[in-house]
Amino acid sequence: MTVLAPESVDLANLVDPELYATGDPYPVWRWMRDNDPVRLHAATQYPAFWSVTRYDDIRTVYNDARVFSSAEGILLRPLAHGKDPGGGRTLALTDPPHHKALRSLVADWFTTRSVRALEEAMRGAVRQVVARAAGLGECDFVTDIAARLPLYVICRLMGVPDHEQEMLFSLTSKAFGAGEAETRSIAHQEIMAYFLELMYRRMDQPEDDLVSALVNGEVDGNLLSEEDILLNCDNLLVGGTENVRLAVAGGMQTFLDRPADWERLHADRTLMPTAVEEVLRWTSSATHIMRTVTEPVTLRDRLLEAGDRVVMWTPSANRDERYFENPDVFDITRRPNRHLALGAGEHFCLGAMMTRTEMRILFTELLDSIHHIEQTGPAVPLRSIVVNGLESLPVRITAK
Ligand code: HEM
Repeated sequence: MTVLAPESVDLANLVDPELYATGDPYPVWRWMRDNDPVRLHAATQYPAFWSVTRYDDIRTVYNDARVFSSAEGILLRPLAHGKDPGGGRTLALTDPPHHKALRSLVADWFTTRSVRALEEAMRGAVRQVVARAAGLGECDFVTDIAARLPLYVICRLMGVPDHEQEMLFSLTSKAFGAGEAETRSIAHQEIMAYFLELMYRRMDQPEDDLVSALVNGEVDGNLLSEEDILLNCDNLLVGGTENVRLAVAGGMQTFLDRPADWERLHADRTLMPTAVEEVLRWTSSATHIMRTVTEPVTLRDRLLEAGDRVVMWTPSANRDERYFENPDVFDITRRPNRHLALGAGEHFCLGAMMTRTEMRILFTELLDSIHHIEQTGPAVPLRSIVVNGLESLPVRITAK
């Protein structure tokens, strides 16, 4: 029997960015989880797709990279934009076995040991960022604090020299900020031009960094093409910065709304690891991840055909009441907390360890060195169906 959604739930607008900026997608996802967990979403400016909203089903899709392929793209793209240029070429957009070979080229920079080796430098960078923000008095938590550590880290990994990082910071702020489409596009082209030049530098003189690994490493006995190297650099830069910025800023906003949790974390730092996991679950900044079906398959009671698109709504999985106890409660002691904010399976976030470390260091430094933080104006949410979180969060910080 078809269950009709109540009028308050508009099932057609999951692809409307306005829903994430000014609306509330959670009742829509909840209705879908309860009534139509694998639901066909009709074509709009995007192709038709199956919406998957339950935790278990999303894990099933993540865990079968052969049937649920990443090679056609992992994000919904307007039909008019055509195919994703990174399809079959970047780490996130390749399938096994090619994917494993590509991942092993860069995996060394993301191991526990590599992350630990960077910790001291991260702490130093965060100290400077927080001191600068406190010096400003009023600042934007998103651009002045949350965005800075992840960019610093990815620049270190990619081998961007210290004196070029500020320039790259300003370009990424423009490219991924809220400005005009043209300004963003120009900034993005300048970033690509920068990496093209860095790639040539590393071809002449390799160093111990990710760009050199991409330039000199072989996948299936072949060097990567220049275009593939650039697409992978872009992927790492975006992957390494955008989501951490959103998770940290969303986490801070949550703590500002719940000062008792901030105080509790201040008093008991042993809660930091579970608090970081809960911030990841709560913010679930990667709104959706897509796959394309390679052969007929049944998902729950639906028959999916080869070529069908499957869209997994991460925040919905992370609030699934079938899996989490009191999923709508923010609980910094939650344990276990096997959320899907960082994906799962073959493409599980390569930067997971890095992310957790960055978040722990940043929140610890804020707790240690600031006396008071307060919001000074309305937070501005992002207008996007790809990532969710804050565009800006005005705050006033007083140092100890
Ligand atoms: C809060 C922070 C982050 C979130 C929420 C996040 C989320 C995700 C998700 C959901 C995936 C899976 C995509 C898929 O299955 O198609 C993924 C993959 C990936 N992430 Fe992250 N990420 C974060 C931070 C980072 C950082 C800091 C880096 C790098 C420094 C990074 C690099 C990557 C890469 C390279 C992949 C592709 C891995 C593969 O395809 O094998 N991410 N991330």
